[in-house]
Amino acid sequence: MKALILSGGRGTRLRPLTHTIAKQLVPVANQPILGYVMDHVQAAGMGDVGVVVAPETQGEVRGYLGDGGKWGVNLTYILQEQPLGLAHAVKTAKDFLGDAPFVMYLGDNLLGKGIAGAIERFASSSMDALVFLKQVDDPRAFGVAELDGSGSIVRLVEKPKDPPSDLALVGVYLFSPKIHRAIDSIEPSWRGELEITDAIQWLIDHGGRVSGEVLDCWWLDTGKKDDFLQANLTVLDDYLKRDIRGELVDSQVHGRVRLEDGARIVNSVVRGPVAIGRDAEIRDSFIGPYTSIGHGSRIVGSSVEHSVILDRCEVIGISRLEDSLIGRDSRVVMGGARNTALRLMIGDHCQIEV
Ligand code: G1P
Repeated sequence: MKALILSGGRGTRLRPLTHTIAKQLVPVANQPILGYVMDHVQAAGMGDVGVVVAPETQGEVRGYLGDGGKWGVNLTYILQEQPLGLAHAVKTAKDFLGDAPFVMYLGDNLLGKGIAGAIERFASSSMDALVFLKQVDDPRAFGVAELDGSGSIVRLVEKPKDPPSDLALVGVYLFSPKIHRAIDSIEPSWRGELEITDAIQWLIDHGGRVSGEVLDCWWLDTGKKDDFLQANLTVLDDYLKRDIRGELVDSQVHGRVRLEDGARIVNSVVRGPVAIGRDAEIRDSFIGPYTSIGHGSRIVGSSVEHSVILDRCEVIGISRLEDSLIGRDSRVVMGGARNTALRLMIGDHCQIEV
């Protein structure tokens, strides 16, 4: 059994963050999403891992994953020149995959639990595909499964205008080598992509054994700001342990707070769950629950709650910042007290609520 992690694509839904960072490397609780994916692949005992990368972002993905040694796996990088779909990515990885069954894991998907159990069930069956499903509020943004009365999948549709159910395809798939024949038989969809959803439908239509399993844990699509804050909240709730490595000076730190090396909290109150990255500085401030502060960021004279502040930001003199997502190298600073004008320099695709 091999693992194929997809870490290409353009990441349009997470703009503006993904103007400067691969969507798979956007951090949740200060760890890139791809790191959680690697943790799951490692825990499932996968030794041979292929990572599909795109020309624009392969440098940073390689920089983060290295040779895979941190996770004890052999990594093979596979370049997909253009984002022509998930099935096209599998096609591109054919040399790496050979005739092995494999798990395909989309590098921007966050799952509440590992995949080891499902891989065991798949390996001891004669299934051609096992897909994971999850009930979602708006299925139109996903691949959607239609089940018959006995729970078998009868139809899969990609991004349907009129969804046949509320069961979305989660971005983790288990395949037998039969999927390659299916991929060779399908045509690009209306969005110009070779859809893995269509390849699985081909398997169903040609007598393949395809099963669906409804996930009994959370699955997060980090698509928009509120989803992203929800992902941060859920990960902080589920994974974070108290771990104080940085320095505390005249400060109170309550509950599950992770303070990484080189970080300092001075004359401040922090109420967990909160993750504070390497070399960050919190001074004369209050940091409330469900907040992640990125590496090297400074929060001074401010109060921040239920927010994600990425690396190397400055938040100075802000009396109350909540429900916010702030991209890397940004500054949010209180202007002079006598002037209530807003002075903004805002990049493309931003949202400001005043
Ligand atoms: C892809 C799949 C879709 C699936 C989703 C999960 O969508 O095509 O079926 O539900 O991943 O994240 P995309 O991210 O390409 O829009």
